[in-house]
Amino acid sequence: MYQKPKGTRDILPKDIAKWQFIEKIIRDTVREFNIKEIRTPIFEDSSLFLRSVGETSDIVTKEMYIFDDRGGRQLALRPEGTAGVVRACVENGLFSNALPLKVWYMGNNFRYENPQAGRYREFTQFGIEYFGTSDPSADCETILVFKSVLDKLRITNYSLQINNIGCPECRKEYNQALRLFANQHENELCEDCKRRSKVNPLRMLDCKKASCQEILKRAPRLEDYLCDSCKSHFNRVISLLKSNGINFDINTQLVRGLDYYTKTVFEFVADIDGKSMAFGGGGRYDNLVGEIGNANIPACGFGMGLDRLVYLVDDALLAKNDLIYIANLGAVGMDKVLPLAQVLRSAGLSVETNISGRTFKSQMKYADKIGARFIVIIGDDEISNGVFTVRNLNTGQECTVDGLNLVKYLKLTDEELKNIIKYADF
Ligand code: HAM
Repeated sequence: MYQKPKGTRDILPKDIAKWQFIEKIIRDTVREFNIKEIRTPIFEDSSLFLRSVGETSDIVTKEMYIFDDRGGRQLALRPEGTAGVVRACVENGLFSNALPLKVWYMGNNFRYENPQAGRYREFTQFGIEYFGTSDPSADCETILVFKSVLDKLRITNYSLQINNIGCPECRKEYNQALRLFANQHENELCEDCKRRSKVNPLRMLDCKKASCQEILKRAPRLEDYLCDSCKSHFNRVISLLKSNGINFDINTQLVRGLDYYTKTVFEFVADIDGKSMAFGGGGRYDNLVGEIGNANIPACGFGMGLDRLVYLVDDALLAKNDLIYIANLGAVGMDKVLPLAQVLRSAGLSVETNISGRTFKSQMKYADKIGARFIVIIGDDEISNGVFTVRNLNTGQECTVDGLNLVKYLKLTDEELKNIIKYADF
């Protein structure tokens, strides 16, 4: 028997309601912020990621799915969304339109990671990217978008960690200090960190090995090397977050696993299946567009991992099943049932009928099994009198409803129905 590839998942019909609910909240939120959707290819030239995410990052060195196509091009399944979006905006000349340009995307990404709860080789990210503004209020607005999604999903159990990683100018001196530190501790650092110390010392701070983390606690601190402009940008971001009532913790260890960031970086962290994990992260990247497309366009954004977010959404928030089952009684055939189903469907209701030729009794059992809210019974009497017997499977109550009022009745909430049922006839 075939099995799904390691690190991938099937999202089954029983779980899909939660995903669709999250996706709807995301679509509502981006509309409120006037952010426009962009869709880019699921694979790109692999060198795009080398250039942007960084040749020393774990994503590029260990986790990319790289392959040659039949034409000999080296391609990579996208490990993240930002690089492809930047490439698409440059290639399609979007930066010559009014700025800032605010775009969002939702789609699958691929990283060859060790699978565990919340960590997969194929995962879904929702992300936004703001281009053409270096103002701290843009950093703050992106965080507001993230928080707005969480508020609507009633997620409160998380922390926002934020840091300032400066610009290439102030990092120059810092990198030298880090390199010196790495030389002094060469024998204690892992092979990866030794390599990182030569090419991109900042990456060492992101090492997952406990022994390296312990040594690097004593390393020079980036905050002592920041230039005035980076400091004042960050202070303004902080004060805007405060005035917007957003709680955060400054985490000076936070550097993020991708190379393109400048100044602000942040992560939203929560308990995912018993383990503290980032379920979203982002920040400012003022030089990436320049590196990919020769245009001086500052930018910021984030990626939110939906596979982790689903762990945080309470099932109770999901809409109740509003399915209607039409049961045919006696000799009434499908030639009567199907048109009635169509009338109800065209009024926006979700309807199942007896397309398996079940007996009346087994239809009742089936309707219960599939979680129908109402059973509408259609028999000879119903047809001659123009009324229907409607059973509410949530409350067990039964009522006869005039055909003209049927749609209206089926759309009432259980709360509203309580009063109506007292009068037997609707
Ligand atoms: P990232 O921190 O690499 O940032 O990924 C963002 C989110 O994607 C993570 O916080 C996590 O929720 C989810 N994620 C990453 N890897 C996995 C995985 N293997 N399994 C499940 N979920 C995962 C970025 O990708 C940047 N492009 C974000 C960004 C956009 N920065 C600026 N703009």
